[in-house]
Parts: sequence; C-alpha cells; structure tokens
Amino acid sequence: MQTKLSVSVLSADLANLAAQSRAALDAGADMLHIDVMDGHFVPNISYGAPVLKCLHKALPDAFYDVHLMIEDPAFYAKDFAAAGADLITVHLEAEGVRKDPKAVLQAIHDLGCKAGLSVRPGTPVEELFPYLDQVELVLIMSVEPGFGGQSFLPQTSQRLAAVRAELERRGLSVMVQVDGGVNTQTAPLCTQAGADVLVVGSAFYNAPDMSAMAAGIHAL
Ligand code: DX5
Ligand code: ZN
Repeated sequence: MQTKLSVSVLSADLANLAAQSRAALDAGADMLHIDVMDGHFVPNISYGAPVLKCLHKALPDAFYDVHLMIEDPAFYAKDFAAAGADLITVHLEAEGVRKDPKAVLQAIHDLGCKAGLSVRPGTPVEELFPYLDQVELVLIMSVEPGFGGQSFLPQTSQRLAAVRAELERRGLSVMVQVDGGVNTQTAPLCTQAGADVLVVGSAFYNAPDMSAMAAGIHAL
C-alpha cells in the first residue's frame, strides 16, 4: 500500500492555519496531523480542541490525525472527537493512560474515532505490544515530543522494525506512524523499517515544492 503523508501543521504559519492546511491537502497530504501539547506532558503549549473545531469547519473533508501530548487525554478526548478528530493518538506514558491504557483506547473508540498509541523515544516499543489488537495505529516518536524541527533519532529504524515484525507475527493490520525529523533523507529509512504513515512538519512547510515532496513520500 502507498505510504501516507500526515502533515504536521505545528510548522505552519498559525495566523493562516486554514490556508496552510488547504495547501498541504492540495499538495497531496493524506491527513492533517494536529499536535496538542499541554505544557505538562511536554514542555510546550500548542493548541486545543477549539482550534481543531474551527479548522474542521473550514476544511470539513480532511482526515484529522490528532496527536495528544497531554497528561489526561481520557478527559479531553470527547472535546477532540466533537471538534472533528478522526483518529486520536495518546501516549502510553501519560498519567491518564498508563494506569489503564485499554480503557482509554476503548473510550476513544466509543467516541467514534480511530485510536492510536504512541511511545516516546526512551520507552521500549515492547510496552506497546499488549495493546496492538486494540488500536488502528501505533506512533513511534523519532524525536523527544514537544517541538517541531528536531533531528531524527537513528535508533528509530530498529524500533519501527520491531513493531512491524510483531504486527506481522500476529497478523494484525495496524498503521505504523513515525513522527519527528522526517525529511527527504530520513523518510526512506522509515519506510524501509516498516512505517507506512509519515508525519512531516518543518520539512514539508520549508520544502521548495510541497507537491513534489508529497509525491516523493507516496512513491516510497
Ligand atoms: C513533536 C511533534 C511533531 C512535530 C513534527 O512533538 O509531535 O509532530 O511537529 O515536526 P518536524 O517534522 O518538524 O520534526
Ligand atoms: Zn506529532
């Protein structure tokens, strides 16, 4: 199947969020990646459900891939679902997830959204394995979450490969997403290791030709 591109609008000009999101879709983005940061789970604050609600109103047909880097995603998931999220990804390390990840994933499904589970670079990917049959997507962070524009961590390739091997071993159809420092150099490393959804932020918005970048990723 074709590699999918989820554009992180964290790197867009946020004063022109709708136009910059439209540009990503017109260039060929398959999803819009919405990075939500609460200043606790990560040392940065981005935007919340009201921003997604406005963006969804402006661009109702886009697929909204919402990455919650927040401590209590179970409490806020309903707001993001109501605002237009199609997929909600939570972190295994978040305070409100680690006690009972299955309940949080079930709550996301009950809201009518696809569910994703993510780990920081320092968390062994094996910790995801008990939940692989409860998600539509796993997200392997290739930078420490919190900021766009960081460098891809090289150990990501073997982490992606380990997840892909486990999914194949169990015959599970789950998307494998990678997020952070993905650009034209690192994208092939990700797909070779088994990723099939690439999140691209700064490299996309800085690309001289966004359509060419999207086409390059689709061709991997
Ligand atoms: C990092 C975010 C990423 C980030 C990706 O915490 O989850 O989605 O915006 O940005 P780049 O592609 O610039 O690393
Ligand atoms: Zn992200």
